[in-house]
Amino acid sequence: MQEKIIILDFGSQTTQLIGRRVREMDTYCEIVPYNKFPKEDKSIKGVILSGSPFSVYDENTFKADLAEIRGNYPVLGICYGAQFMAYSNGGNVEPAGTREYGRAHLTSFDKENPLLKGVRENSQVWMSHGDTITAIPAGFTKIASTDKVEVAAYQVENEQTWGVQFHPEVFHNEDGTQILKNFVVGICGCKQDWSPASFIETIVKELKEQLGDDKVVLALSGGVDSSVAAVLLNRAVGKNLTCVFVDHGLLRKNEFENVMRDYEHLGLNVIGVNAKDKFYRELAGVSDPEMKRKIIGKGFIDVFDQEAHKLKDVKWLAQGTIYPDVIESLSITGTVIKSHHNVGGLPEKMNLKLCEPLRLLFKDEVRRVGRELGMMEHLISRQPFPGPGLAVRILGDITPEKVRILQDADDIFIQGLRDWGLYDKVWQAGVILLPVQSVGVMGDERTYENAVALRAVTSTDAMTADWAHLPYKFLGKMSNDIINKVKGVNRVTYDISSKPPATIEWE
Ligand code: XMP
Repeated sequence: MQEKIIILDFGSQTTQLIGRRVREMDTYCEIVPYNKFPKEDKSIKGVILSGSPFSVYDENTFKADLAEIRGNYPVLGICYGAQFMAYSNGGNVEPAGTREYGRAHLTSFDKENPLLKGVRENSQVWMSHGDTITAIPAGFTKIASTDKVEVAAYQVENEQTWGVQFHPEVFHNEDGTQILKNFVVGICGCKQDWSPASFIETIVKELKEQLGDDKVVLALSGGVDSSVAAVLLNRAVGKNLTCVFVDHGLLRKNEFENVMRDYEHLGLNVIGVNAKDKFYRELAGVSDPEMKRKIIGKGFIDVFDQEAHKLKDVKWLAQGTIYPDVIESLSITGTVIKSHHNVGGLPEKMNLKLCEPLRLLFKDEVRRVGRELGMMEHLISRQPFPGPGLAVRILGDITPEKVRILQDADDIFIQGLRDWGLYDKVWQAGVILLPVQSVGVMGDERTYENAVALRAVTSTDAMTADWAHLPYKFLGKMSNDIINKVKGVNRVTYDISSKPPATIEWE
């Protein structure tokens, strides 16, 4: 059985980060709502209580019953998690002054305590909560103070229970990883044996049991998640998996053909559907971005549904849903607040059971699994690309000619980034076709043609992004190449907006 750490989520923005840090120690963990502790699970080695946007004394604060947890498993409370345990055992928690926020340094601490082994004198920690523990309950021992906070960490006497008021999971904590490792490995005794290879072995076995001889259908997008899901399922059920890859006519230049070839090399059973005309027809004259998205989403479902109906006896719909989608789709009271089907609405409509083999993996783990499965690097390290594709990069209405212009310009830019060794340095890049014509001269002739914007951003999660500071020389070369080679473009601009307040896409 795969041993694991359970992270009880009290709603903090850094809960996912705790999960990532634990996984980075090659230890499996699951994030569950604070009131959904899986007490039947026999493979739990320890429990972490996350932070929270609430204060312990807020009326609507999240209160967990820890009676069956404390004493039975090692427990580490982080920030609110630490305050909650202190407060509910008779300690004092009070609003902190601004002085206690942000950067602080561990000035005195118990170097022998198993949680703090290897932590350096004056190590920097990061406090983010608006509250602070001003008195710990009887039976709790202070094990660390900072220059600003008296009780920065505590342990419950004769119990494997700790609390830290800072956030060891965030980057600014110099010895945060050491502290988490002390807990996960030193205290909980996790063996650090979670690896892509062990994941593949376990999941393939589980998929074989779950799916038996049933037929499965999966929609491929050309992106990393759906591709890795397909290769995993192919290992488990072979030809019982049929993949459908729809060309909506808004992919990058030659993307459909290239990706189809890759999929065939991977041994996947893929039906490629050329539905360009349908999409161009339905999109004709539509300028509103949300309308474009709706038309493409619905069109996609129609095409996929039609193909799936041609297959006999399909029982399962597989999707490349990954862990951040799953976490985001659960409110911490356990109700679904946002459904994250990659192919929205399909399962309901098709009456199929849902199979999501990657639902417990983070993005970087999906990539590691893909590499372990022997997939080509260019499929694995591909930049994100929006589902509606070039439709949201052609501002205004869409015509096949505009798609052609944009594909040609985009191809020069993306190939240029690769040739100059810049592709892997940016999170995402592409070209936007603007609804603007401007005057130019070519040879002796006056031209009146389209302007395009190049967009390249750096980011770690697409939530925030900065414009990539690409070399002027490179930008100059791209501008020349695009204007000289792409018929219909006579002006190139570079987008230097960051997100927020701009977004990555223009629509
Ligand atoms: P924005 O433009 O909101 O984009 O900063 C953040 C990330 O999401 C991608 N994106 C989409 N992906 N369907 C998708 O599958 C969409 O409608 C869509 N809109 C934006 C965008 O490319 C970036 O990676």
